[in-house]
Amino acid sequence: MSDAASTSKLLPVQPFDLVIFGAAGDLSLRKLIPSLFNRWRDGQIPENSKMIGVSRTGLTDESFRTLALESFRKFHPVENIDDEEWADFAQHLFYRELDAANPDADWSDLLDLFDDCGSKQRIFYLALPPGLYGAVSKNMAAAGVNCPGSRIVLEKPIGKDLASAQAINAAVGEVFDEEQIFRIDHYLGKETVQNLIVLRFMNSLFEPVWNANSIDHVEITVAESIGAGGRASYYDTAGALRDMVQNHLLQLLCLVAMEPPLDLAPDTVRDEKIKVLRALRPINAENVSKYTVRGQYGKGASGDNVAAAYAEELGHDSETETFVAICANVDNWRWKGTPFYLRTGKRMSERRSEIIIQFKEVGHPVIADKGREAQPTRLVIRLQPDEGVKLLLVTKDPGPGGMRLRYVPLNLSYADAFEARYPDAYERLLMAVVRGDLALFMRRDEVEAAWQWVDGILGAWSEAGTPVHKHAAGTDGPVQSAMMLDRDGREWFDGS
Ligand code: BG6
Repeated sequence: MSDAASTSKLLPVQPFDLVIFGAAGDLSLRKLIPSLFNRWRDGQIPENSKMIGVSRTGLTDESFRTLALESFRKFHPVENIDDEEWADFAQHLFYRELDAANPDADWSDLLDLFDDCGSKQRIFYLALPPGLYGAVSKNMAAAGVNCPGSRIVLEKPIGKDLASAQAINAAVGEVFDEEQIFRIDHYLGKETVQNLIVLRFMNSLFEPVWNANSIDHVEITVAESIGAGGRASYYDTAGALRDMVQNHLLQLLCLVAMEPPLDLAPDTVRDEKIKVLRALRPINAENVSKYTVRGQYGKGASGDNVAAAYAEELGHDSETETFVAICANVDNWRWKGTPFYLRTGKRMSERRSEIIIQFKEVGHPVIADKGREAQPTRLVIRLQPDEGVKLLLVTKDPGPGGMRLRYVPLNLSYADAFEARYPDAYERLLMAVVRGDLALFMRRDEVEAAWQWVDGILGAWSEAGTPVHKHAAGTDGPVQSAMMLDRDGREWFDGS
């Protein structure tokens, strides 16, 4: 494949005032401010924009700028920072101390920073625990900081179950209309996830075979090599099902399974996704042991080191799953009989996120002695790392010796094919908020439909007493995960 210059270009955005609540927290320092800086140095952010950090931490403009720079260096050590560029960017970075969840807080210092309503887009990013979203929205309304048309960005998880998600959505909805609410699932901002739509719907090859007649099953794996680490106390209240499946994995499933949308308008795509969520076969106490596996990492290898067990990181024993595998069934016409196997976990053997579409075996084997290499056609969509798409095909091994078969990939590696910088998903999403493009964000009913399905699993786990199987760190999860597929005569494909 020859190198091709990317055709990437930055779409202009209007000047904005962006407030980040929880500005001294991990998400803000690790992702949001570095993303803004990257778009600043790319020249996309208009000169008269302001980015304002808010927290209870008691910083000043200067100490916040220093903290932001130190964090950038810590979290993005390979990126060079031009001192002048940073100094220029930092002039647009401000800080205000404020306990936004406290109804008695004084918002005047923040209000003083804003330009007039209507002169600029005003955006509020809540990088806060979701339990505070309602209270902060209410206090914003009382303080008069939100203009007509202001936008609010909510980080996942929206709640911890359906009831809490509904309560949060209702409380935020009292202050902001649905078109003003941007619910983030950062997977929707990833380059390869966007490409999934292009691949499916702009290539005539795939759509005719994209159904249960031709596809044996789909695998969606999001494996992480990191552990829960410093986030263990939050993570222990969530677990892999709430932290990853309810949002990221179900969004990926929706994009693979949905019907072709009419266009890419936000509601057209979201209408299709929600149909998939509603078609998911409920998991209950009767079928939960067949359809789900829970795991938790113990001590084990992590690269060249020995990784601590989850319970050690947490400081006590826990029944929270750090690994989950699910056999999901989409009960509609297109997917009848084609399972979607989902799995995600921390401290797995490697960081690898991919979607595997495994096609059915050929109807009649023309070559009788097929051998090991005669595997089914697979489409592998690699989300990270090494983004790309592979179509694995059986071909003839060249040269004499009869019909010897070889299983080889037609390989589209993004890094080899395009000379482009791969922006972090948050860069794209932040600029989409400024532009008011809701297509990459979750609608209220979508979030609630996902919780409804996940609530069924949580309830079934508790009713059936589903065990959490311990597995060594640095592996692919408990053996029960392989057994779940083995029972169906299948196995996880790890050969990509
Ligand atoms: C977050 C989860 O939403 O996604 C984290 O809360 C997880 O637990 C992260 O580590 C994974 O994101 P990425 O982009 O590194 O795959």
